[in-house]
Amino acid sequence: MTQEPFRIILPDFESQVDQDEEWIYVEKNGRRLKLRLHDYGKLYKIPGLYEQIYYEKLKCNSHNVVCSLLGEALQETADDEDQLRVLDFGAGNGMVGEKVRDMGCDLLVGVDILPEAKEAAERDRPGVYDRYYVLNLADLEENIRARLEAYHFNTLVTVSALGFNDIPIKGFLNAFNLLEDGAWVAFNIRDRFLSDDDQSGYRQALESMIQNNFEIAKETPYCHRLSITGDELCYHAIVGRKTGDVDVESLVSQ
Ligand SMILES: C[S@@+](CC[C@H](N)C(=O)[O-])C[C@H]1O[C@@H](n2cnc3c(N)ncnc32)[C@H](O)[C@@H]1O
Repeated sequence: MTQEPFRIILPDFESQVDQDEEWIYVEKNGRRLKLRLHDYGKLYKIPGLYEQIYYEKLKCNSHNVVCSLLGEALQETADDEDQLRVLDFGAGNGMVGEKVRDMGCDLLVGVDILPEAKEAAERDRPGVYDRYYVLNLADLEENIRARLEAYHFNTLVTVSALGFNDIPIKGFLNAFNLLEDGAWVAFNIRDRFLSDDDQSGYRQALESMIQNNFEIAKETPYCHRLSITGDELCYHAIVGRKTGDVDVESLVSQ
């Protein structure tokens, strides 16, 4: 039996609120819920709701954009997709993992901070991930680091999960250091975190990585999704290769 879709009602904001403050109403069977868009735990608990809000209503296309860019980079360097050993960091309910699995890979491990994300991925996309861990990589214990390093990841994908109180820089840098040298790194980030006005520290950290530890192969600006008020949220998709470990402590203390 197909699930009846939800009625998504966008509130009538007079002015734009920031991305992590947006909320909507969701109606089903006469019940109306008010949900913050970044309250992923609540969204993941309801099968199909995350997809309906982000991908259908708000036209999010980041899983396609980032994975296609990675695919192009792999083709141009004649790297074999079937040999990819992928860490999907901020994996959520598996939208990106599903694309990576379709591209072909040898190993796919998901990591997210929310148990609801793992439960949703296993419920809605069983078999996509070889392993899925609920972990906070910003606070990485030595035994977990060793366990993850043993996977010899040669690819990191992090889609729609950086900034806005989602993955902090330290978590992203720790994930980067879990990769082997030469590994592919594919991610997206809001344009504002790359601008001179950035206060989050992402721009400084990324600039330092690009100078010392990361070689960009492909980059494209694009519309990540629409805001609740219908404005385009501009992001950059970036794909490149790790050239060496980063000094996490010095980058986060800058
Ligand atoms: C917008 S969702 C993106 C999910 C998936 N990558 C996608 O594109 O559909 C952001 C995800 O990042 C996760 N996240 C936020 N902070 C995190 C952290 N510190 N460590 C790991 N995951 C985190 C959230 O739980 C959420 O599942």
